[in-house]
Amino acid sequence: MAPRVAPSAARVPHSRIRELAHIAMSMDGVLKLYFGESNLPTPDYIKRAATDALAAGYTYYTENAGLPSLRRALARHYDRLHGVGLDPETEIVITASGGQALNVGIRCLLDPGDEALILTPAWPNGSSIVAMSNAVPVEVPHPLVGERYQIDFDALAAALTPRTRMLLYTSPSNPLGWVATLEDQRRLLEFCREHALWLMADEVYERLCYDGVSPSILRLATRDDAVVVIQSFSKAYCMTGWRVGWLVARSDVAKRAAELNEFIVSHAASFSQKAAETALAEGEAEMASMVERLKANRDFCWAALRQMPGLTVPKPDGAFYLFPKIEGLTDSFDFCRRLLLETKLGLAPGVAFGAGGEGSVRLCYAADREILEEAMERLERFLRRRSLEPRKRP
Ligand SMILES: Cc1ncc(COP(=O)(O)O)c(C=O)c1O
Repeated sequence: MAPRVAPSAARVPHSRIRELAHIAMSMDGVLKLYFGESNLPTPDYIKRAATDALAAGYTYYTENAGLPSLRRALARHYDRLHGVGLDPETEIVITASGGQALNVGIRCLLDPGDEALILTPAWPNGSSIVAMSNAVPVEVPHPLVGERYQIDFDALAAALTPRTRMLLYTSPSNPLGWVATLEDQRRLLEFCREHALWLMADEVYERLCYDGVSPSILRLATRDDAVVVIQSFSKAYCMTGWRVGWLVARSDVAKRAAELNEFIVSHAASFSQKAAETALAEGEAEMASMVERLKANRDFCWAALRQMPGLTVPKPDGAFYLFPKIEGLTDSFDFCRRLLLETKLGLAPGVAFGAGGEGSVRLCYAADREILEEAMERLERFLRRRSLEPRKRP
């Protein structure tokens, strides 16, 4: 018999956002609002920093934990932004993206068969990475209470088993735009301390917050707490293609993550790391204007969606997504596929985001206003047509 793909690899669910995108990529004229990416190019000052770095010889291997100068710059950044003191030598590891930080972080925390509680709807990669580590993702949905998503601590407690080892949450959330309050974070931390769990906080949208800075969990946790923060340059600095992120963790985990980096990617690209250092040093003004623009986009799309038939859509406080719930929708993938084929508008199906996601669709509003205006028109026309269709009997 021919060798086959290992069942443990075959079991990892593929991304249903990619599945939709795959159809869209074979079409012309699609309004692509399905990926989590701004259409703004990387700012010129960052591109210049990368070419300067190449010219200066940043083309060799770096430390597994990343360039010491970038780690020191991140420590200064946490001090400035959150008043948190971090040791750049032992508590910060540069990774080749937020995705890789999740990978190496989760690999350090879970053994095969362990369980991870994951607050969903969420970016699906967390659950898939847990599955890729031969561990078990246990998704616990955020219920919508009135106008706000809330953490269901009773459901979290009910999901605990003797194999539960960690809890992953994302704030600001992809796809909900929900931002954890200090009280939410305090309770999450207490829950994890009480049940001896690792708390992993995905904070990659931290800077895309419409009401000041979203408070990092590091403000509440001590450096001895079992806390890991996942971060990235992708969203705040329009650097998705550069693949630079970082992880902050208790020193024993940070040490192991740096060592395991050797066997995954060794380290993030040297010149990308150097450019990231410049982004941290010079990026505040450009980021502030991007956040203003995103806020205006959010307000425009939110107001438009609220007028559409059968949609419920809480106003998000952060990230760059809206996640409207569509009345009577039971197959969001089919909805998004039809929307794409009939109107050339590409949205991500809610089912892609795990438990609690079905029945909704995700729209990324980090696009130009004309694209968003056209997208809103196409969606509204499609919804009106759909509301005239005879309902299928269950
Ligand atoms: C919640 C969340 N975490 C992490 C990432 C990873 O970003 P990157 O791998 O580009 O750094 C993303 C990207 O969409 C995300 O939405």
